[in-house]
Amino acid sequence: MHINEIEVDYEQLKRSKLRVINLYKKLGGVEIINRVSFEVYPGEIFVITGPSGSGKTTLLKLLNRLLEPDDGKVFLGNIDLLSIDVLTVRRLICYVPQIPVMFEGTVRENLMFAPRYLNIPVSEESLREIMTDVGLNPSYLDKIAETLSVGEKQRVALARALLIKPVYLLLDEPTAHLDPENTRILEDLILELNRTRGVNFIIVSHDTAQAKRLGTRIARLENGQLSIIGREKIE
Ligand SMILES: Nc1ncnc2c1ncn2[C@@H]1O[C@H](COP(=O)(O)OP(=O)(O)OP(=O)(O)O)[C@@H](O)[C@H]1O
Ligand SMILES: [Mg+2]
Repeated sequence: MHINEIEVDYEQLKRSKLRVINLYKKLGGVEIINRVSFEVYPGEIFVITGPSGSGKTTLLKLLNRLLEPDDGKVFLGNIDLLSIDVLTVRRLICYVPQIPVMFEGTVRENLMFAPRYLNIPVSEESLREIMTDVGLNPSYLDKIAETLSVGEKQRVALARALLIKPVYLLLDEPTAHLDPENTRILEDLILELNRTRGVNFIIVSHDTAQAKRLGTRIARLENGQLSIIGREKIE
């Protein structure tokens, strides 16, 4: 792929660190993210915990420019993500929201929206495969997306993101609407995608046990500050 007209090797990008430097964001006059710096390493499942309202969703959105920071930098390897085209950023770093949003139409149309827009070829077989991967019957491809349960929509949203093959995948409370059984299925899927397909994750979770099950490292966001609270860093 090309970034700022320079040829970039996708496989190399997948092995790049995400570096956050002095990130700063005020919302409604409050310093929600107050000069936060951290690095996420390729291969990681980096879990962010913290109390409700501490800014976890805000932080994720700053990483792929769904929100623009007031100050600070975000680098993927040596690419300054604030200096490149925003659509390229969204392709490299994909955000799956806390409350899933479905477009009008079928599940298939929802899955194909971004690949079509970005000219990424997707076969019928890989659509069926991705459905199975996220624990949904491929017959769901022809259902109207809006009629799905919240948990099912969440899995379609994850499948939709996976099809774009982002370098970092940001999941905001991915199991918040799932029952315990489906929570374990989705957690296993995340671990499997990380191990076998080398997907790098940054996951927000308020569930400490889940953070321990999934995280290569666990961080806590509180009072605008992020501190690493668990596990040694991997490199
Ligand atoms: N557009 C906005 N304008 C003003 N304040 C905002 C805006 N968006 C978020 N906030 C505030 O910023 C703070 C952080 O919100 P955020 O959604 O990032 O928290 P969170 O940690 O994800 O919470 P939760 O665990 O409940 O999802 C909250 O106090 C919220 O009210
Ligand atoms: Mg949130």
